[in-house]
Amino acid sequence: MPLVPPAPPDSLDAVPATWRHRHLLDLERLSAEEIVLLLDTAARFKEATAGCRKKLAVLAGRTIVNLFFENSTRTRTSFALAARRLGADVVEFTASGSSLSKGESFIDTARNLEAMGIDAVVVRHSTPGTPHLLAQHLGVGVINAGDGPHEHPTQGLLDIFSIRERLGDLKGVTVGLVGDISHSRTARSNIHGLLKLGARVIVCGPPTLVSPRWRELGVEVSHDLDKIVPTCDVLNLLRIQFERQNTRPFPSVREYAHLYAMTAERMKRARHDLLILAPGPINRGVEVTADVADCPQSLILDQVTNGLAVRMAVLWLICGPRDGLAGESLSAVKSEGRTN
Ligand code: NCD
Repeated sequence: MPLVPPAPPDSLDAVPATWRHRHLLDLERLSAEEIVLLLDTAARFKEATAGCRKKLAVLAGRTIVNLFFENSTRTRTSFALAARRLGADVVEFTASGSSLSKGESFIDTARNLEAMGIDAVVVRHSTPGTPHLLAQHLGVGVINAGDGPHEHPTQGLLDIFSIRERLGDLKGVTVGLVGDISHSRTARSNIHGLLKLGARVIVCGPPTLVSPRWRELGVEVSHDLDKIVPTCDVLNLLRIQFERQNTRPFPSVREYAHLYAMTAERMKRARHDLLILAPGPINRGVEVTADVADCPQSLILDQVTNGLAVRMAVLWLICGPRDGLAGESLSAVKSEGRTN
C-alpha cells in the first residue's frame, strides 16, 4: 500500500446531488436509481483503488465509529478497512468493557461518542430497528451493518454487485436464496434490492424456515431445491441462524443438508455457468459442501473483496464532501435538509 495516497479521480471529488440520504438504514426504502448509484460508485472505487487494495484520501479528516453488539468477522473488518482505504480514522467500540455495563443507556452511549466529533456510526445489533432508532437521536450518519433478522443493506448490495459484475444487467436474472429465510437479514436486503433491479427471486428452504407469506414481497416460494436448481442463474446459500431460533426447525442437520445443501451432485443438474454466492460464515457440509464452496463458479471470496468497494461507496456517499462544502463538517450538510 503506497504511503502517499494518489489523488482520487474527478468523478469521486464530490457526492452527487442525486444522493440525498443522511443514513443507510435498509434497501427497502431506496429506489432502483439509488441502488444503481451505490453500485456504480462502488465500481468506481474498486477501479480507483486497484481492486480495493490502494488508498485514496477522499475521507481524510472524517471519523467513523464501528458500534458492533453482535459478532462479526467480515462486516466489521470490511467497514474498518474501507474507511481507512479512504483516509478516514476508525474507532472500534466494544460493548463489553464500555460504560453500558455501568448502566448507561445505548442512546446516551451513542450521544457521547457523537460529542467527540465523529461523522458516522456503523451499527450492528440483534434488535431490529436499532439503527433506525439511532438515526432519530443522532445528528451524524448511521449505517446499518445488520439489525437482527431485519436487514443488512451492505450485504445485499455486495451480493448484487458481485452478480452484476459477472452477469451485467439484473433484469430477468433468476436468483435462488436458499436456507434459513425466516431469520436472515441478508435474505431481506437481497429481496428488496434484486426485485427493484428487475431480477426474479425464488426463496427456498424447509417450510419451517420459508413461509408462504414471503410471496407478499413479490418472490416465489419453493421447498424443493432439486426443482429450482436447473432454473437458477445464481444461488445464494444462507446459513442456518441457530442463534436466532428458539426451537429446532428440522430433525437434524444431516437431514437438512441432505435436502438443502448445494453439492457437486446438484451442480451437475444446474446450468453450467451457475454462480454460487454465500454471505459467510459458511458451514461446510451444511448449506454447501466444500467442493462447491471452492469451485470456479463460487464467488464467495469475490463477495468479500467487493464488500470493501461497496462499503467505501456507502461511507463516501454518507460522509463525503458535497459540492461547495468540501472539507466542511457533516453538520453543515445536515442543515441542508438531506433526508433519511
Ligand atoms: C451475515 C450476517 O451477519 O447477517 N454475515 C455477514 O454479515 N457476512 C450472515 C450470517 O451471519 O450468516
